[in-house]
Amino acid sequence: METLKKYHQDINITPELMQRIQELVSHYPEGKQKSALLPVLHELQDAHDNWLSVELQNKAAEILNITPIEVYEVVTFYTMFNQKPVGKYMLEFCVTSCCAINKAEDVMDYTCEKLGVKPGQVTADGLFSVVGVQCLGACGYAPMLQLGDFYHEHLTKEKVDQLINDCKEDKITLHDK
Ligand code: FES
Repeated sequence: METLKKYHQDINITPELMQRIQELVSHYPEGKQKSALLPVLHELQDAHDNWLSVELQNKAAEILNITPIEVYEVVTFYTMFNQKPVGKYMLEFCVTSCCAINKAEDVMDYTCEKLGVKPGQVTADGLFSVVGVQCLGACGYAPMLQLGDFYHEHLTKEKVDQLINDCKEDKITLHDK
């Protein structure tokens, strides 16, 4: 099993970030700050290149006054949290039932080959990573992938080519806020 401690991350909890976290925690009753864990982890991840090192997870525990293991349990359960560095453009291919039947793995393999990476790896320029994830709830549009906050559906190799070109030319918006 891969040790994640080897991945170093500069942690930067700015006053603005801490204010957003405190605002999130304020939505929950006194003593129930653990309930804010998911949105807090999203805030921390968004502010740290889309991944959460062990140190940053420990920081989340410290901020919420809970034990580190309570954070690790959540981070290791959800694929939306990344435990090691990812590319600026993380292509998350759904590889579950409907997408699998519609040849998602062929398109994903093609993408990996084109980018010269295996699933879970980052390209040398830090731009791309490719991962397989479970159903993203867009089964009627299979095969599909998620990139940032957006879905790309009815994928073909040609669509992947276009998407990669658009990323390289900085034409892709990752977030809807
Ligand atoms: S099976 Fe791929 S989105 Fe549901």
